Amino acid sequence: MSKLIINIAKLYLGTDTKSPLIADKLAEVIFIENAWLLIVHGRIADWGNMELCPERADEIIDAEGGYVLPAFVDSHTHLVFAAPREQEFVQRIQGLSYQEIAQKGGGILNSARRLSACSEDQLLEDAFARLQEVVSYGTGAIEIKSGYGLSVEAELKMLRVIRRLKEISPIPIKASFLGAHAMPMEFKENRSAYINLILDEMLPRIANEGLADYIDVFCEKGFYSTEETDLILNAGAKYGLKPKIHCNQFNSMGGIETAIKYNAVSVDHLEVLNDTEIDALSKSKTIATLLPTAPFFLNDDHFPPARKLVESKVAIALASDFNPGTSPSGNMQFVLSLACIKLRLTPEEAFNAATINAAYALEMDGELGSISKGKKANLMITVPMPSLAFMPYYFGANLVKRMIFS
Ligand code: NIG
Ligand code: FE
Repeated sequence: MSKLIINIAKLYLGTDTKSPLIADKLAEVIFIENAWLLIVHGRIADWGNMELCPERADEIIDAEGGYVLPAFVDSHTHLVFAAPREQEFVQRIQGLSYQEIAQKGGGILNSARRLSACSEDQLLEDAFARLQEVVSYGTGAIEIKSGYGLSVEAELKMLRVIRRLKEISPIPIKASFLGAHAMPMEFKENRSAYINLILDEMLPRIANEGLADYIDVFCEKGFYSTEETDLILNAGAKYGLKPKIHCNQFNSMGGIETAIKYNAVSVDHLEVLNDTEIDALSKSKTIATLLPTAPFFLNDDHFPPARKLVESKVAIALASDFNPGTSPSGNMQFVLSLACIKLRLTPEEAFNAATINAAYALEMDGELGSISKGKKANLMITVPMPSLAFMPYYFGANLVKRMIFS
């Protein structure tokens, strides 16, 4: 089965890379103009100029002067949830903070109550609709976390929904176990009892059923301490689960050090970050995943110091953090816009951080994240654009005309 895409105004090709793009390399893009692209059995096979275009293929797709780009890899989402939380959005407009809402039993605990009352089938149906929506905005691979279960059965339910989504999804999915997302009310006075549930009941069953690819912890004041994070990551490692953790969203308290100790694939958020942590990241293989829609939506002035990270040779990725509390959008084109406006990344840097570097943040770099021979052909065809910069510039619009999947 072969597919030939013709009349591509600009075809963005992968730079040959064996590791995530850092420093000046993050801005490097290679493209050819007036191009064709051949896909054979779902893999990128060849490309060239329209003047020397193959004549035959099983299917010919006319890009009509649009760009062909690798699909976005969204390496951090909470796509499975039971209900939106727009009332908390209103409470924040009226002056409450995210943490105050959480302390009153809102926030993640609100989502957990709603999820426990929701059937697996309903969760799947709603998550699939969201998945189709984000795919229409250019996402071609995604990570999805548990963490709105917060009980043995409900965490397993969430992870089973993600497994069923994997079976019906047009795009690859990776699952992260986030049992340590918030402390359930009934364990507030006995935190170690809930942590023991994670260690002794959730993890063995999740590992036994092969339900997770990664382990995550919300290492943050009011959520999980560094010591608790250490315990959980240590237990996860025994089951072969590498960490991808939430830390430094509101406070710098040692999460990064702990994550690096366990060879975390990524540390995510980093709105509050000090020089020692940047230095530690630059000496590690851990990717700094930045989620600019979260501080934007919380109207928080702290955005991750992206320029400093790039200058310090830290590998950065961008993701949507799609969730009902802090980022009710999985539109990666908007993530690019915020990355340019609020993180001061150039459009090329943002594009690479949301594609090839994000593929590294999901350990899918051999298969996805760039248009390179042999990789899966998960691509987007855009409407005609004057330049790559037009995508983050023309914010709020959907410039993706068609998605191609292998
Ligand atoms: O990445 N920070 C922790 N977790 C999510 C928010 C979850 C929620 O509020 O429902 C985040 O921002
Ligand atoms: Fe998150």
